[in-house]
Amino acid sequence: MNKWLVFSLGLFLLVLIACNQTENNHNGTSIDDKVESLLSKMSIEEKVGQMNQYNGFYDVTGPAPSEGDAKNKYEHIKSGLVGSMLNVRGVKNVREMQSLAVDSSRLGIPMIFGFDVIHGHKTLSPIPLAEAASWDLEAIEKSARIAAIEASAEGLNWTFAPMVDISRDARWGRVMEGAGEDTYLGSRIGVARVKGFQGDDLSAVNTIAACAKHFAAYGFAEGGRDYNTVDLGTATLYNVVFPPFKAAIEEADVKTFMNAFNIVNGIPATGNSFLMRDILKGEWGFEGYVISDWSSGEEMIDHGFARDTAHVAQLAAMAGSDMDMESYAYVKYLAQHVKDGKVPESIIDDAVRRILKVKFELGLFDDPYKYCDEAREKKLIYHEDHMDAAREMAKKSIVLLKNENNTLPLSIDQKKIAVIGTLAADKDSPLGNWRMAGDDNVAVSVLEGLKKYSSNITYAEGAKLVTGPTAFPIELEVNETDRSGFKEAIKLAKRSEVVIMVLGEHGLHSGEARSRVDIDLPGLQQELLEEVYKVNKNIVLVLNNGRPLAITWADEHLPAIVEAWQLGIQAGNAIAEVIFGDYNPSGKLPMTFPRHVGQVPMYYNYFNTGRPGPDGELFYPHYMDESHLPLYPFGYGLSYSEFEYSNLTLDASNKKEIKVSVEVKNVSERVGEEVVQLYIRDHVASIVRPVKELKGFKKIALAGGQSKIVEFVLTDNELGFYMPDGEYVVEPGQFDVMVGTSSAEVIKGEFEL
Ligand code: BGC
Repeated sequence: MNKWLVFSLGLFLLVLIACNQTENNHNGTSIDDKVESLLSKMSIEEKVGQMNQYNGFYDVTGPAPSEGDAKNKYEHIKSGLVGSMLNVRGVKNVREMQSLAVDSSRLGIPMIFGFDVIHGHKTLSPIPLAEAASWDLEAIEKSARIAAIEASAEGLNWTFAPMVDISRDARWGRVMEGAGEDTYLGSRIGVARVKGFQGDDLSAVNTIAACAKHFAAYGFAEGGRDYNTVDLGTATLYNVVFPPFKAAIEEADVKTFMNAFNIVNGIPATGNSFLMRDILKGEWGFEGYVISDWSSGEEMIDHGFARDTAHVAQLAAMAGSDMDMESYAYVKYLAQHVKDGKVPESIIDDAVRRILKVKFELGLFDDPYKYCDEAREKKLIYHEDHMDAAREMAKKSIVLLKNENNTLPLSIDQKKIAVIGTLAADKDSPLGNWRMAGDDNVAVSVLEGLKKYSSNITYAEGAKLVTGPTAFPIELEVNETDRSGFKEAIKLAKRSEVVIMVLGEHGLHSGEARSRVDIDLPGLQQELLEEVYKVNKNIVLVLNNGRPLAITWADEHLPAIVEAWQLGIQAGNAIAEVIFGDYNPSGKLPMTFPRHVGQVPMYYNYFNTGRPGPDGELFYPHYMDESHLPLYPFGYGLSYSEFEYSNLTLDASNKKEIKVSVEVKNVSERVGEEVVQLYIRDHVASIVRPVKELKGFKKIALAGGQSKIVEFVLTDNELGFYMPDGEYVVEPGQFDVMVGTSSAEVIKGEFEL
């Protein structure tokens, strides 16, 4: 035999063996075989048990279930009726709970422990919207990796993250939890976060299963009011909403999905077989499992889609919702439905196979207590490396919105610096919402951060933002009346050279159930700002917020504005580094900032309409009382450096690989980073296409005076779109390519496809 043939055959066999080994879980039998073998031993009640998740005893993230439902949890676990717990954490607690399932139930199937690990676990990193502003996929992946390390050290093996919902509505409180308004950026970030959580090897002790949520269209709640009705056409579903979910499967092998509270095309997502059976498990071939959202099954009764809880169980299971969170529907009714022939056993088997498979992949059957190591827990929580990474991530997340006459950075020799605003001294608010495992009051406040740099700082609160308690899940009471601190703040501003005002939203102003009709500075903060401005115009505004804010007055009047979101445990240190110039900001907005709340939903990739302009003229889509343009566009953000774009070149000789290159030069003396953004426009198509769509970006570092050629390649993946029936098409015709520093500041070329 020819030696190359022998060599190739040998290689082929080796690859086969290697593939087989990765499928096998240590002792030679494949995971699928193990799942089948276990499934064959299970009673229908035990199978349904795997589809049942109970809330633990620590956190409540939705309406609390009734006593009667909750009290049998221990007994149910021991009877094999519970496949998963949420909100149980800490090695001791997880071990205790796990032993009920493993040691007392007939088959000893381990439970999977889920938790909302949203932005860090104990070492809290910036809120996801802030991290998205870094456009730094490596850093975002690392941040999720660290969150997984800490969560797994606390006994957890599954996070309900990332939220990959696209949203264009700043009123919706949950924009803080996602990557903003853009599908392309959101997809890249979703993939990075899943990779961070799941790592290279799901069976490793420091990796956890991720969950792409909320499937689907939750970010399009009407009026930005959480849980509200969604009404979207399928072209928007396919082109805007679905891609980040699809990418999470195809590019990161995400293990689980969560459905949503809302309706899609009149059908609640939890009972929506178009979403879960046709698209997710059908077209996309998803092999993991789907969990409902908190009581979203039971809520189908209020939606007017299910008659009662028994009906909920039938509808949700048939539609492809594999695990029930907090509706108590499956555990009560599903076994009987199978016996009555209302739900085929094959539906149950399919769901249980999916759940068991993930448990096997996590290695829970090899060792159900593998995540329960006290020494590891002690060593890794708040690890020094995690704190350093949180600080790096926080710096990268900051966006410089305005910097007239190089007001920033401040010199450390600057005398008489006033710091005003209750958020400046707050050690809790920077932790943001969705910090379930986080400790209270552990963030470095802005004031603490600044004081490390300068002894010339004097602080005045000015006005309280929140009067009552702030503990989750309490509704905030905003101070609308108490101006007693104004006088001191104004006096301080008068005798200072520069005033740093830290204003914005409390960390609990955004998040689930935190919708707002005004997206301005809440409470008395705008008034305080204007009063201080009367005596000192040299104001640096440091914004804290979990959503875009309409800060039009501030933009018109103040010389410098720093978008500092809620940056997590290292917030104050990161902000101080930017203010005093040790770090050169490079963040770019992942969401458009409107001039006024009346403009939302607002996003850069809108359609041209039949009457695109000009701005401000009658019979064009304008407002009589405000510009229709944003305050700060998507992708916008300044730096202490300055970048120039030139020499855009296109090579469209190969239609399958359109090559784009651009020269970017740092025309300042200071080293800095720039996010080079590429947008396209498809001029004429079977369905209208947006005026601009992000299709690539690269973050580069440039020394003072240095220039670089940045290259992109556009393929069918970037140039096509989905028709309303879900067909992906790439159509010939005229395209614009735009490359620049934001969605609004670009240089342009064109090609024919
Ligand atoms: C949220 C989910 C979350 C779940 C569990 C729900 O209210 O919508 O995103 O994962 O609670 O805490």
